[in-house]
Amino acid sequence: MTSRGPRGGRAARRVAALSALLLAAGTALVSVPQSAAAAARLDNPYVGAKPYVNPDWSAKAAAEPGGSAVSNQPTFVWMDRIAAISGTTGARSLKSHLDTALTQGANLVQLVIYDLPGRDCAALASNGELGPDELPRYQSDYIDPIADILDDPAYANLRIVTLIEPDSLPNIVTNAGGTAGSTPQCATMKQNGNYEKGVGYALHKLGAIPNVYNYIDAAHHGWLGWDSNLVPAAQEFKKAATSSGATVNDVAGFIVNTANNSATVEPYLKVTDTVNGQTVRQSKWVDWNQYVDEQSYAQGLRSTLVAQGFDPGIGMLIDTARNGWGGAARPTGPSTATSVDAYVDGSRIDRRIHAGNWCNQSGAGLGERPTAAPAAGIDAYVWAKPPGESDGASQPEPNDEGKGFDRMCDPTYTGNGRNGNNLTGALPNSPLAGHWFSAQFRQLLANAYPAVSGGGGGGGDTQAPTVPAGLTVTGTTASSVSLSWTAATDNTAVTGYDVYRGATKVGTATGVSYTDSGLTASTAYTYQVRARDAAGNVSAASAAVTATTKAGGGTTPGACTAKWTANSWNTGFTADVTLTNTSTTAVKNWKASFTLPAGQTVTSVWNAVITPSSGAVTASGVDFNKDLAAGGSASFGFQGTHGGTYAKPASVTVNGASCTLS
Ligand code: BGC
Repeated sequence: MTSRGPRGGRAARRVAALSALLLAAGTALVSVPQSAAAAARLDNPYVGAKPYVNPDWSAKAAAEPGGSAVSNQPTFVWMDRIAAISGTTGARSLKSHLDTALTQGANLVQLVIYDLPGRDCAALASNGELGPDELPRYQSDYIDPIADILDDPAYANLRIVTLIEPDSLPNIVTNAGGTAGSTPQCATMKQNGNYEKGVGYALHKLGAIPNVYNYIDAAHHGWLGWDSNLVPAAQEFKKAATSSGATVNDVAGFIVNTANNSATVEPYLKVTDTVNGQTVRQSKWVDWNQYVDEQSYAQGLRSTLVAQGFDPGIGMLIDTARNGWGGAARPTGPSTATSVDAYVDGSRIDRRIHAGNWCNQSGAGLGERPTAAPAAGIDAYVWAKPPGESDGASQPEPNDEGKGFDRMCDPTYTGNGRNGNNLTGALPNSPLAGHWFSAQFRQLLANAYPAVSGGGGGGGDTQAPTVPAGLTVTGTTASSVSLSWTAATDNTAVTGYDVYRGATKVGTATGVSYTDSGLTASTAYTYQVRARDAAGNVSAASAAVTATTKAGGGTTPGACTAKWTANSWNTGFTADVTLTNTSTTAVKNWKASFTLPAGQTVTSVWNAVITPSSGAVTASGVDFNKDLAAGGSASFGFQGTHGGTYAKPASVTVNGASCTLS
């Protein structure tokens, strides 16, 4: 799966008046007369449906703390390779899913058709098993056997919803040439036409089965919501839906937000909002898109599709599995900021760094539970991406599933043209696409919105800790910044703190201090800290502090000597020190550290700077002697007082290397 590009009619819907009535209402509705259903498919298969719960997913969800609160939700079964038809380790066969659905007394099953030739052309995480030219195999070894099974009269009373090929046609629209996000693989797929032919073939074969409802994947608003993409996308869908023998009557509708995190509805942000007379569309986040959320996008796209010739009865699905954005970081009202960027960033519940980020997003929560007919034009909110299944590995993983390593799943990657060259916002330590990712499931549960009762992994605790106060910089070096703060409190106890440098979480601390290292000299860094509790709730961010690292530090010699000579009298002394770099590489910016014995105080210094004047001190070179060539020396001296008996220091180090003292 990929994200944006800059990402991202069912057969014979004959009863338009009835359709309008159904779509206007909420859940659990009027059921469609059976005679009409048999003849012409239902207008909305979700109305009055009892959807199948995939026991394989359900068991994994239930095994997580608090997971049983959602493990009875219906999720889609991904037919993500030919072997998925007959079943793979830990995943039952297609036939077994259908049989189990009947055993459950379910009457609706949801499948993802996901094995096109050259799959996932703009990304690597879900590259598939079929090469770009393997259309014949897609038809004979994948679609035909699936169609044979679905066509079995034993399943005639199941409403079978098929989600047709996520990301494929959207990639042809935006990533196949001429834009920042284009890839050679997508250009190949556009040129050979195999996405369109494959989608057409799937629609035609599956659409011939009277109880199958085909929904084509239509990306999400942050992929196709621009004027420049919307009509071309509708035209592309039409082209595919009229290829390989398919017609628009093979299409029940479209699904948006598959495996993505865009909010269903942004409660505090509308695309028509203005701030100080400026449209929010000019903000970095909205970036001139026509939509800020999925429901408005789905409704707008639906009209555009009908205008292109799709049946006026088509319905839309929205994948709400991972777009809840609850938890402590969720805004509670519109921002009062007076610049468009600050207003948008303070108002939006979608907390991603960029709307083009798509892999295992940090901070996401479960969204609306699957619901039939929730809004006009929307057939259902569904959970297409099974929560807890990874989008891709955060590091390369050898595998036999054809999955590649996509750096959009690596939290340290700074992005590409499709996410505006931003950090990816991906959770660390993720497994291969489709594999169980426990940490992500727990986060989704903890940040669910609406909240899950009994979720959050801590017996239903949803209260976030207090915000850490008193964040201060306690020290800096050329390569590190040390911080401390005051402990936060919580009803179930604070278990640790997340430390952020800018928007990036750089580490965690169990105590109230942290040192961020590996930094660049003479650079300003801004920090914030959030507290976390046992249930996984996270506080809002603390006030920010900024620290500037010191000027470039010295390099460490491989070996050195320190020759120390002194003259002393009653209460005074002079010391002369010669440092020699006995290694074969030059040393920059030497700093000699030593401890003056008790009672000694420095009163004047030549050819160096010494701080402080007693105890553990550091002598630093001055302009003309601050570097030591290989084999080179520098001398400095100082005068001081002592407490009665003079002694030289026990040891001398130069830039951390201990020197032979004589
Ligand atoms: C993976 C599939 C998996 C699906 C659902 C996709 O990204 O490529 O293997 O079945 O997600 O988790």
